[in-house]
Amino acid sequence: MIQKCLFLVAGLGTRFLPATKAMPKEMMPVLDKPLVQYGVEEALIAGMSEICFVTGRNKRAIEDHFDDNVELDIHVKDTAREEALSGIRELMSKCKFSYTRQAQMLGPGHAVKLGQILTGDQPFGVVLSDDLCFGTERNVLRQLLDVHQKYGCSVVAVQEVPRDVSDRYGIVAGEFLEDGVVDVTSLVEKPAPASAPSNLGIVGRYILTPEIYDALDRIEPGVSGEYQLTDAIDVLAKEQRVLACQFKGKRFDCGSLDGFVAATNYCYRMRFGKLPVPEC
Ligand code: UTP
Repeated sequence: MIQKCLFLVAGLGTRFLPATKAMPKEMMPVLDKPLVQYGVEEALIAGMSEICFVTGRNKRAIEDHFDDNVELDIHVKDTAREEALSGIRELMSKCKFSYTRQAQMLGPGHAVKLGQILTGDQPFGVVLSDDLCFGTERNVLRQLLDVHQKYGCSVVAVQEVPRDVSDRYGIVAGEFLEDGVVDVTSLVEKPAPASAPSNLGIVGRYILTPEIYDALDRIEPGVSGEYQLTDAIDVLAKEQRVLACQFKGKRFDCGSLDGFVAATNYCYRMRFGKLPVPEC
């Protein structure tokens, strides 16, 4: 069973300035809960209770969120407000948290490599918490885990994306192995629509095997001059099986204004019982 889940939270969140000037993008609340808490809940439900963060400057609020706040605890004790803290308290009691820092923002691939000191020599999950995901029946990490347990290899989450926005995604190429599972032959980071090999875009959920670290050592800076995780998984896919899981559910890009607003509306409707399908 995979127990470790790596959260990449060092990015600068420039698409959300000025909100992210002093506040981590991952702490932006959808309704009353920060994005990163949704991600940690998803990991825990999928059975991953060892939560590892690659964090950076100006991100201390994330560590504080997963720590006691004695003054606040005393203040709300035995009041109606206390219930609002039950979810985060449950996560704190059930998860272990560890942190390492990325001093220079050299890209998500670089961040995963730095995370090795926490994730070690075993398969692990990866969450980019600005992608807010709600699976149908099982959450998205759980769906990836099921594919990993069946095939024993690295798995990336994908969804169909409009071709004209392929340059916002990593795009996978390959053949369907079974319903919802693609045998990946290559991955391209942010291709122009004309050269995108498919309409399957990568979403910020992964299960990676430790061979990824060696692949990360062999990539050069790619799109935006950053070490791209997509490029390292492409190296891996040339040497061993890599699968893509076309998950069942919804995903919101909360790093963008449109996605953030859509997520807020969706969660509001869920909270107040206006959605028929139970989501997790
Ligand atoms: P993004 O490109 O979406 O995040 O990276 P960003 O750089 O924070 O956002 P914008 O584009 O400037 O608005 C995807 C994920 O990888 C992490 C980010 O925190 C985000 O979760 N990341 C990115 C790192 O941890 N380190 C990096 O060097 C780059």
